Parts: sequence; structure tokens; C-alpha cells
Amino acid sequence: MLRKGGKSKTLRYLDLGCGEGLDVILMAKKGAEAVGIDFSEVAIKRARRFARKERVEAAFVHGNPLRKKIDGRFDIVASRFVLHTIRNVYQKRFVETMMAYTKEGGFNVLVYHTTYANGKLIEGFQLNLESFYLKKGWGVRASKEEFSGKGFTHGKPLHWKYVIAQRP
Ligand SMILES: C[S@@+](CC[C@H](N)C(=O)[O-])C[C@H]1O[C@@H](n2cnc3c(N)ncnc32)[C@H](O)[C@@H]1O
Repeated sequence: MLRKGGKSKTLRYLDLGCGEGLDVILMAKKGAEAVGIDFSEVAIKRARRFARKERVEAAFVHGNPLRKKIDGRFDIVASRFVLHTIRNVYQKRFVETMMAYTKEGGFNVLVYHTTYANGKLIEGFQLNLESFYLKKGWGVRASKEEFSGKGFTHGKPLHWKYVIAQRP
């Protein structure tokens, strides 16, 4: 069972743009109280079916996290391969939404592409995510840019990045 800091409270995990729920189900299997939200109804239906098949309890919400309210706050708020799909003007709000759902001492985990499928660099807010968190008084615990190698997407090089930030 995943426990928070050795205490008896179950760890709460929220996934924004959970898709078909792989990470949510993995976290639920480890004992977390796991919730996923996605604006694709098809993805949410598949995630619920996947959870039933795996016999795990996880909550899947259909909607846009920028508008839909989810109860409570979470120890880990994650979003994998979503940020780069969001238009620049909404990216800041998306990250602020993740921050608002995070408990004190909790973490945001973001994984996203930094180049388009044609190999060009994606510009905008996501490039300076670390400084955004630092300005808000959060700690940046890890951040790394990786290169998948040629041929991964449409034969073009693909760069991706992860950032792990902690609320004070
Ligand atoms: C590339 S998939 C990644 C899915 C999952 N996180 C994973 O790593 O397998 C991107 C997902 O983000 C969802 N998405 C994008 N923008 C969203 C938003 N504003 N609100 C909710 N879901 C969103 C899409 O519907 C899609 O399921």
C-alpha cells in the first residue's frame, strides 16, 4: 500500500488528461486513492473498462479540468503528454489548476514534448515551467530534457521533458 510519509493516510493521486487511465490504474494498484480526468468521453469509457478488467478501484471523470471541479486536494497531481497539446493561452491556467489541487508538501509531475512531430521546438509557456514554479514559491525537485532518438514519431527527432515541483 502507498502511504503518505509512513502515516496511515492513503496517498491521493490526480491525473489531468489521463487518457485511457494507465497511470491512474498503476497508482491505484499501489494503493493510492486515484482519480483521472479527461475531456475525451471515449478515453474515459476505455479507462473505466480497463480498471474493471484489472479489478482496481479508481475514479474516472469526464470533463475539462479547467472547468470541472474535483473534490479535495491531492498529494500528487500529474499530467503526462498533455501540456504540449494545450494552446499557449491556456497552458498557464492548466498548470495553475494542477497547483490548486495540490496539498501542502505535495507534488506536480509534468511530462511533455518540447518539439513538434516535424522536429521544430515548441515555444511558449512550457519552456519556462521551472521559473514559473519558482516564482510561485514552489521547489523544483527534478527537471530534465530527453531525446527519444530519430524515428520515434513520423521519422523525426522527438524531444520531451519532465518537471517535478513541490508545493511548500
Ligand atoms: C497524448 S494523450 C496522453 C494520455 C495519458 N496521460 C498517457 O500518458 O497515456 C493526451 C490526453 O489529454 C487529453 N486532454 C488534452 N487536453 C485536455 C484538457 N484540457 N482537459 C482534459 N483532457 C485533456 C486528451 O483527451 C488525451 O486523452
